[in-house]
Amino acid sequence: AAAEKGGHDYFMLKEIEEQPAAVADTLLGHFDAGRIVLDEQRLSDQELRDVDKVFVVACGSAYHSGLLAKYAIEHWTRLPVEVELASEFRYRDPVLDRSTLVVAISQSGETADTLEAVRHAKDQKARVLAVCNTNGSQIPREADAVLYTRAGPEIGVASTKAFLAQVTANYLVGLALAQARGTKYPDEVAREYRDLEAMPELVARVLQTVEPVRALARELAHSPTVLFLGRHVGYPVALEGALKLKELAYIHAEGFAAGELKHGPIALIEEGLPVIVVMPSPKGRAVLHSKLVSNIQEIKARGARTIVIAEEGDEAVRAHADHLIEIPAAPSLLQPLLSTVPLQVFAAEVAQTRGYDVDKPRNLAKSVTVE
Ligand code: G6P
Repeated sequence: AAAEKGGHDYFMLKEIEEQPAAVADTLLGHFDAGRIVLDEQRLSDQELRDVDKVFVVACGSAYHSGLLAKYAIEHWTRLPVEVELASEFRYRDPVLDRSTLVVAISQSGETADTLEAVRHAKDQKARVLAVCNTNGSQIPREADAVLYTRAGPEIGVASTKAFLAQVTANYLVGLALAQARGTKYPDEVAREYRDLEAMPELVARVLQTVEPVRALARELAHSPTVLFLGRHVGYPVALEGALKLKELAYIHAEGFAAGELKHGPIALIEEGLPVIVVMPSPKGRAVLHSKLVSNIQEIKARGARTIVIAEEGDEAVRAHADHLIEIPAAPSLLQPLLSTVPLQVFAAEVAQTRGYDVDKPRNLAKSVTVE
């Protein structure tokens, strides 16, 4: 069993290590002769071009990957994108027609809430594109087009490598739409793809430098609450970091959009409360960066213990961080592929310190096949 886990105590720890390969394998074969290609496309190019609105539906970590998809798809295609929890979607009477594309994201391809959302979408004549990690599962079978993530089997209940693969795949979907609609020139699509191709090596670099994160996790393992803050694509990362800590370590954790701090969450700040902040790039997102520096100053002044994930060379934030976790520079939209990793490691280490089984958190199932 130890060999199966690659010398780790838990599958999840092995799966965290496998993330560079999960991203690389998901890219493999999806860019050919200068074009993004899907795995199964039962939609014509014309149908893809006619899409005038996108809904993303998913649950859990897949939903967080969908929140990230919105930033990329809107930016690259100028299509409006709504991201919705699959369990809410069909009970809300969403406005869909044949030019709506519903992107259903699911590692297992069997999640009942997501499957029912797909069926509801099809009843309304919308087109469905599945992003899925499991060949032959139900959601891709019912979809009009499929892009498989190639993370390999994920055993740990809490999603790690499948999440990074979903983020990667979602970006490929965005580029495929941009290509079909002509909102990006072929050389621009190629450039974005090259940026994605550079990510596995950067993810590997993050993995080589996470040891201090483990030490910090052991130190903070008995905190009653941990808050996570981020902005732009750092916001879904904050939500995912909080989810990981809840599911694995049973600690009350919440992610917030940092801009909302002043509208409520700041009331929670008290002496010693750990707050993990995902910083945008000081160069790529200078305005948001300076707003986040102010947020950190505000919470620090109220006693928070600040743990900051920032780009290497971000000197402006260093003075305000009680703990600084550095990640390599990457294009803004792609930073989540790096910033999520220390949060996974943090949650796993807190859970292990507390003596929990990180592969099988209490009350949770890998794939939830009931609504
Ligand atoms: C369960 C798992 C989560 C997962 C979610 C969606 O709740 O515990 O880790 O994100 O289902 O699963 P799916 O297979 O649809 O991606």
